[in-house]
Amino acid sequence: MNNLKIEKLDNFGRGICYVNDKITFVTDALPNEVVNIKITKEYKKYNEAIVTKYVQKSSNRIESICPYYKECGGCNLLHMSYANTLIFKKNKLESIIYKYAKITKEIDVVPSKDFNYRNKVTLKIKNNKFGYYKEATHQIIPIKHCAIAETSINDFIKDIPSLNIKNGELVIRSNYNNELLLWIKTKEHIKPDIDYLKQHHKIVGIILNNKVINGDSSYIELINHQLFTVSYDSFFQINRDICSKLFKLINKYITPDEVILDLYCGVGTLGINASKEAKKTFGIEIVKNAVLNAITNAKINKRDNIYYMLGDASICLPKIKEHINTIILDPPRAGLDKTTLKTILEFKPDKIIYVSCDPMTLARDLNELKEFYNIDVIKGLDMFPYTSHVECFCVLKIK
Ligand SMILES: C[S@@+](CC[C@H](N)C(=O)[O-])C[C@H]1O[C@@H](n2cnc3c(N)ncnc32)[C@H](O)[C@@H]1O
Repeated sequence: MNNLKIEKLDNFGRGICYVNDKITFVTDALPNEVVNIKITKEYKKYNEAIVTKYVQKSSNRIESICPYYKECGGCNLLHMSYANTLIFKKNKLESIIYKYAKITKEIDVVPSKDFNYRNKVTLKIKNNKFGYYKEATHQIIPIKHCAIAETSINDFIKDIPSLNIKNGELVIRSNYNNELLLWIKTKEHIKPDIDYLKQHHKIVGIILNNKVINGDSSYIELINHQLFTVSYDSFFQINRDICSKLFKLINKYITPDEVILDLYCGVGTLGINASKEAKKTFGIEIVKNAVLNAITNAKINKRDNIYYMLGDASICLPKIKEHINTIILDPPRAGLDKTTLKTILEFKPDKIIYVSCDPMTLARDLNELKEFYNIDVIKGLDMFPYTSHVECFCVLKIK
């Protein structure tokens, strides 16, 4: 198909054009570009396509700095300038929030350090080749470095062969001090060259499946003068710069002497950060190691008024019998389940601070909450630069 004009971007950053009136999503194409395309998948209601030739390029197009970009399934906006990715995310958030929550708001996106921001990567290993999967496949794209991963992770990548893993998965996490925690998942019997690796990298722990084979099972992260123990299987925000900005943003909306609930609290980050002057804080989390980390983290940050519950949010929440002033919510991508949403509405906290990594489920939940709450603030935070993902921050106040 020749000389097609890209009209706009979809929510994944793909260009949209029409082929015989059928919507067609084109990878690596920008608005106003004129392109020749090849349709790669045809569905009843839409096509997917790739560009075979750029007849007219957009002035917003830049050369990707990543040699794996065309094939790797990781980033999908490396052909746009960073400033343009922020405009894309602003438009995306505003349109999703309007479409699914019927809320009209100007939504600014807080920028991030743009490259080398990821403190965690998960690499797949097949027949000694390691890398990321090609988009929508299980085919490995071998890599030697990753433009969005922290420098200490990139320094380690060249030494992955010393782990002697033929098939499996490797999670590499790095902290503020460039220390690394390695989590190897494999069915094979492996013999990593630990002495060599420890001579060349600051490795705090190596976990094989669920067993510590060297050092510790956790590392320590530092955000805004607060320390957080994070075990290999606990969640932690993947962008330290944005995590720091998120902490500051949350604290703008917290007043002294509140009773706070940190729902989906992970290792306790958001609740500990917000509770310096709180009357009391509760935390609820389903991963056991994360709750154990949170208990340790409350102690090391000198919070003696935080109480954690281990279990499903929908089951633990009704056990709290006190009036909550602020609920800080940071659920997984699926957002709130119906029972939890209903219980929150029964609790009627004065304020809800909703942090979300999926604007669609956020908009769905805001649509339910808006009958009882005014949406005071919505912001985007660029937690995942050069990908189409965006973190959201909302403050809701009771009507
Ligand atoms: C997006 S993370 C947020 C963690 C934490 N607020 C932070 O900033 O690091 C979501 C957390 O919810 C937890 N989680 C997932 N499903 C849950 C459930 N049904 N009940 C309680 N916690 C859950 C996950 O284990 C994860 O730690």
